[in-house]
Amino acid sequence: MNIEWYPGHMTKARRQMEEDLKLVDLIVEIRDARIPLSSANPDLIKMGANKLRLILLNKADLADPKKTALWIDKYRAENITVLETDSKLPKNRNQILAAFETAAKPKRERDKRRGLKNRPIRAMVVGIPNVGKSTFINLLTRKSQAKTGNKPGVTRGKQWIHTSSQIDLLDTPGILWPKFESEEVGLHLAMCGAISDERIPMEELACQIIDFLREQYPGMLEQRYFPVGEEPAHEVLTDLARKRQILLPGGQVNSERMAEILVTEFRSGKLGRVSLEVPAES
Ligand code: G4P
Repeated sequence: MNIEWYPGHMTKARRQMEEDLKLVDLIVEIRDARIPLSSANPDLIKMGANKLRLILLNKADLADPKKTALWIDKYRAENITVLETDSKLPKNRNQILAAFETAAKPKRERDKRRGLKNRPIRAMVVGIPNVGKSTFINLLTRKSQAKTGNKPGVTRGKQWIHTSSQIDLLDTPGILWPKFESEEVGLHLAMCGAISDERIPMEELACQIIDFLREQYPGMLEQRYFPVGEEPAHEVLTDLARKRQILLPGGQVNSERMAEILVTEFRSGKLGRVSLEVPAES
């Protein structure tokens, strides 16, 4: 599957992000728990060198918990502070703030050694489009104090959200464009809804999902739809459209519409919790 993409409009956003990164101590990198590799951008490591780091595996409620646990082990083994999150659940807020503190510990200790007290940690959220950056910031904002105005001496126009535990969060997230390093990365991003659907051949994507589920999560399609054998994926799709009576005005099956339904149901977890990537064995 060949997905076209246009990074041109991202250049400005990236430049802005580089400027904003200069203002913060801690980078909160949001990744999609279903695709922690494809939803990362390796350039961030270069851009954010010398910054403290927290990785959030967001949408963990949609991901396969066993695979999420493998990712958490991997990052912990690399001494990276990591947390799985569901940004739609306000009750997760305290746990998230605790992870901020863990990630920010070196800075707290440095401040203490220098006799600096109660200095807030400044943090910024970054991530690819649709990964949940705004939802996450809203989760933190809801219970925090009202936003302050511009801070003199920092950068005019920047808004900082004061959280309850001495952490200031820049209220505009940094948007990272994903790196389409391979066809597989493009496919995974499309499967999880990180790429605008106008650019995606929906029937082809639905067929890829059918093949992936048959191989990796046997029984999942059957549980939601109907028994599926070895037939080609496009036949599964048309059968499904017929059984669900998804038809064109002339009575023919509407496999394009059925593809959209299947993709939406897959992305929203209606078929079950699924992860597309596991850490490489090394
Ligand atoms: P962005 O700023 O990074 O672009 O992402 P945004 O917060 O807009 O979130 C994109 C979509 O992902 C939203 O769904 C949002 O509700 C959903 N989302 C964010 N975090 C989580 C999470 O942890 N779990 C789940 N299951 N979904 C999450 P939407 O369909 O665009 O809107 P809506 O369903 O909220 O109306």
